[in-house]
Amino acid sequence: MSPEDTTSQPASADSVDIRDLSLHTGETVRLRGWVRKHRSSGKILFVILRDGTGEVQVVFAKDEVDGPSWETAEALAHEASIQVDGVVREDARAPSGYEITGRRVGLIGPSPEFPIQPKEHGTDFLLQNRHLWLRSPSQAAIMRVRDEVVRAIRDFFHERGYVLVDTPILTGAIGESAGTLFETEYFDLGTAYLAQTGQLYLEAAAAVLGKVYCFGPTFRAEKSKTRRHLAEFWMVEPEVAWLDSDGNMDLQEEFITFIVSRVLENRRADLAVLERKIENLEAVRPPFDRISYTEAVEFLQAGGSEIEWGSDLGAEDETKIAEGRAVPVFIYDYPKRAKAFYMKENPEDPRTVKCNDLIAPEGYGEIIGGSQREDDYDLLLARIREEELPEDAYDWYLDLRRYGTFPHSGFGLGLERTVAWICGLDHLREAIAFPRLMTRLKP
Ligand code: 4AD
Ligand code: MG
Repeated sequence: MSPEDTTSQPASADSVDIRDLSLHTGETVRLRGWVRKHRSSGKILFVILRDGTGEVQVVFAKDEVDGPSWETAEALAHEASIQVDGVVREDARAPSGYEITGRRVGLIGPSPEFPIQPKEHGTDFLLQNRHLWLRSPSQAAIMRVRDEVVRAIRDFFHERGYVLVDTPILTGAIGESAGTLFETEYFDLGTAYLAQTGQLYLEAAAAVLGKVYCFGPTFRAEKSKTRRHLAEFWMVEPEVAWLDSDGNMDLQEEFITFIVSRVLENRRADLAVLERKIENLEAVRPPFDRISYTEAVEFLQAGGSEIEWGSDLGAEDETKIAEGRAVPVFIYDYPKRAKAFYMKENPEDPRTVKCNDLIAPEGYGEIIGGSQREDDYDLLLARIREEELPEDAYDWYLDLRRYGTFPHSGFGLGLERTVAWICGLDHLREAIAFPRLMTRLKP
């Protein structure tokens, strides 16, 4: 493209972002965006314009704009898209610090009767209109916090020398549990499953690179309609050679602290939109308490629970254990039969495995599941048989114990559970732009 050729420039080249208004004080600028609010008081019209980078009030005075602009401005509707030319003025009272004196306005896209109005809508309605609900300030704030969390995750591992290894989504072996698999036909090779985890593949990569992680969508056909479950969710999973279960918990503690402090550093305005209690996040500092599964069961029993040693902890149990704690809490060494086949048998108590869950405060439950992996060929094979898993699907996984086996550990952090906790959301469905729920595949 020659420098003279301006026709193929993107439309936005001649407009400025609202976040950059401070660079243009006193100038006439062009803005493009959507009408968030508008009201009139006779000869003056106020429009709150948002463009994704910020929000600013544009004021149109009838005797300062041309006739067609005034007519357009008067007819503006919630969520219409517009182009505005106006003068940037500093205004200490304005939330953005600036206000625009509108000179001209052009309608780009009308918005007749935007379905979502500033009133109570039921959740069902909002989910049906998720594509439009996303435009609300709170949903935008959540998406920005999520973006921050994702970048913090990548930075954390990158800064510590981990290599990102992408693991497959179509898999031939069950990663976690047979009960929650999405299946699809795979050419002439029978059934493929959508990945529940990238872990098994990552263990192979850890034998090459030492410290690795994967980060992508994972799938669970959970037939439960709880606020903690999605059918498709994002999980980040590190896998570390020569790390034991205690070291694995140290790593998780450092990781969570890093993520929370990054959000506090960069996303306070968004947390304020969400009315998040900042003190609760500021309290998240190491050390996190570590209690064994056995201690957890004794604690629950002492509180009147009927739970028996051996069964997995439920959401209610987790909430009880986390109650009154300002920081997340580790529960470690669960009974073997409550956990996945790949976890390392505890040499000190073979009824248990070297693993941990990390329970977030404020009732958010398990955000991490992690473990040291069984590195003994015979013990792993015995577990695969015990769980009646198809042995031939795991021959390659057993090879990792056949050729240069090594102690290693890792964990998986659920991104949406983490975002929901950090944002203080009631339900996981708001922690991802387009949630996949048991009862919803649209939009
Ligand atoms: O505890 P999980 O099942 O662990 C694993 O998948 C291991 N392979 C991880 C590893 O060691 N590499 O899942 C890990 C986390 C949970 O703690 C939770 O945060 C999240 O993934 N998670 C879900 N999030 C949303 N919806 C669901 N249905 C989830 N199931 C698990
Ligand atoms: Mg788990």
